Amino acid sequence: MKVLVAGGAGFIGSTVASALVDAGHVPVVLDSLVTGRREFTEGRIFYEGDIRDGDLVDRVFAEHGDIAAVVHCAALIVVPDSVADPIGYYDANVVASLEFVRHLVRNGCTRMVFSSSASIYKTAYKPGGDLTVDESSPLDPQSPYARTKAVCEGMFADIATAEPLRILSLRYFNPIGADPQLRTGLQQRHPSHALGKMIQAWESGEPFQITGVDWPTRDGSGVRDYIHVWDLAAAHLAALERFDAILPAGAGSTAINLGTGTGTTVRELVAAFNQVADMPIKVVETEPRPGDVAGAYTQSDRAARLLGWKPQLSIADGIADSLKWVRVRDTRLTS
Ligand SMILES: NC(=O)c1ccc[n+]([C@@H]2O[C@H](COP(=O)([O-])OP(=O)(O)OC[C@H]3O[C@@H](n4cnc5c(N)ncnc54)[C@H](O)[C@@H]3O)[C@@H](O)[C@H]2O)c1
Repeated sequence: MKVLVAGGAGFIGSTVASALVDAGHVPVVLDSLVTGRREFTEGRIFYEGDIRDGDLVDRVFAEHGDIAAVVHCAALIVVPDSVADPIGYYDANVVASLEFVRHLVRNGCTRMVFSSSASIYKTAYKPGGDLTVDESSPLDPQSPYARTKAVCEGMFADIATAEPLRILSLRYFNPIGADPQLRTGLQQRHPSHALGKMIQAWESGEPFQITGVDWPTRDGSGVRDYIHVWDLAAAHLAALERFDAILPAGAGSTAINLGTGTGTTVRELVAAFNQVADMPIKVVETEPRPGDVAGAYTQSDRAARLLGWKPQLSIADGIADSLKWVRVRDTRLTS
């Protein structure tokens, strides 16, 4: 199958493209390189440009009339930037996605897998400290970035009702790790999530801060649903290969959560890190920072049922691959 991967030079899109290649499919990458890396497109069919560019999208389809489906990962993703520049974020994520979908419909495309986010859910809304969410949980995005994802999902649902384009949204939780073959990984040297901070603590010898130890979780520290990016890529593969069974013609749109189903607390992440790293990190416990939350994790029954998918890799695998990537990153990327 030939698959157009928009945003295929980014962290997740490039991993999806590798999984497609390994499974005998052909990715066609479309990416503006606004945050993606040219190095991640090496050896792949690559069109450099914006998803809004109708002439370019027409050319891609003219040159690859056998594109069977699209994976849409092209977006800006930095939450604080979206707070500082909401106009820029709505433009980059919502307006550009609308333009892209217009071009896809014009070119007769009928299948799209959309990178959505678990950040659209309302969290900690259940009584009794249950921090799980499923696809029917209420939405309550807390940042302009998260709202762009929720707006896109709503917009796509309307479009998929009226047009032959069917849209499957995959709501990702917290991707970690790298391609196990280290073809690609995170572009940034110092990602801002908890694992990124642990890696910094490991490099510098400074203690890692557990911010908040009185949350209503199994050990008091915050909980997230870390998932290996290679497992995410495998879920895309399953979504593409089962697309017509999940969303037959006329079925419109749907959403599936991609997480572990158990979540990982910060303390558990530290323990897994220290199992894998050559040198354990030191830890200090501090008060929560403004805006910190207990967190959430997914019930993943729908992914198991519809995609036949369960994560195969552990949190320790994700940490080990992140650390391996840190060691090779500077030889793979020129800046
Ligand atoms: N990384 C996460 O934690 C996470 C979590 C949930 C959802 N997501 C979603 O997954 C998708 C991919 O995220 P990522 O982590 O790989 O980010 P990334 O920044 O590594 O990848 C995004 C890619 O899209 C490209 N791009 C952006 N705007 C474009 C445009 N208008 N035209 C063409 N290309 C464009 C960028 O150059 C980049 O290569 C995003 O839609 C994001 O919202 C990410």
